[in-house]
Amino acid sequence: MPGKKTAIITEASGGIGAGLVEAFLQAGYNVVATSRDTNRKLTASGSLVLLEGDIGEQQTAADAVEAAINNFGTIDVLVNNAGIFLNKPFTDFTKEDFDALVSINLLGFFYMTQRSVKEMLKRKSGCVVTITAALADRPIAGTNGSVSMMTKGGLNSATQNLAVEYANDGIRFNAVAPGEVDSAMHQSDSSDPVLRPAIKRATVKDIVDAVLYLAQAGHVNGEILHVDGAAPARRW
Ligand SMILES: NC(=O)c1ccc[n+]([C@@H]2O[C@H](COP(=O)([O-])OP(=O)(O)OC[C@H]3O[C@@H](n4cnc5c(N)ncnc54)[C@H](OP(=O)(O)O)[C@@H]3O)[C@@H](O)[C@H]2O)c1
Repeated sequence: MPGKKTAIITEASGGIGAGLVEAFLQAGYNVVATSRDTNRKLTASGSLVLLEGDIGEQQTAADAVEAAINNFGTIDVLVNNAGIFLNKPFTDFTKEDFDALVSINLLGFFYMTQRSVKEMLKRKSGCVVTITAALADRPIAGTNGSVSMMTKGGLNSATQNLAVEYANDGIRFNAVAPGEVDSAMHQSDSSDPVLRPAIKRATVKDIVDAVLYLAQAGHVNGEILHVDGAAPARRW
């Protein structure tokens, strides 16, 4: 619906992404949601456009931005939610693992953010929130984040640099850095050594609330908002 604010949310078929879509719709936004294949959890409506596409391909970003502009007229918020985490000893990483991390975590951010910012610059207004990971700067014994965090740490740095680059153009950049979240990312991997019942995980709502806050916090720019319950304090 024209007249409302519009958000693009990536990888929205499950986990945090699906929670973000529901919350932004409830908050009165139009939403363009991408996922790598048919989105069975969400139903398209006058306020929700569902798109399929590999987040590591430029075309997915082009399609998402075009859908937002053609259907709703603006891009007010981009949430770079797409991301994977490979928890392996450093010496076990393969070139394929590395390429997958770069494609989904870095190229996805690069294509989607660059295209969205070009549109935001036309109106001198916009907000980008990227989901990174608390492990990027708060490592935890027993969780092997080295290669995955090359990408998430890079996204934190990009967020802080972009905040400064576009501070005078009305575009804000912030990141939400979750600890363990109760989503499929951990539930699907029973060998994951981060699975420790004694450790309290964040809920999807904890992460969604942080993103919604940053989306409307007009003077918050270049922040990495950790939502990890100070996890390292309980684990070392
Ligand atoms: N969960 C955590 O504990 C945690 C912690 C720190 C940061 N994060 C970050 O939070 C963001 C959302 O994660 P989540 O926990 O919601 O993840 P998730 O539950 O594992 O997956 C959420 C979405 O990512 C897609 N996805 C999963 N693997 C993929 C792959 N190999 N290629 C492309 N898409 C894939 C899924 O699509 P399909 O339906 O097609 O599988 C799904 O729509 C990510 O950036 C992640 O790095 C999560």
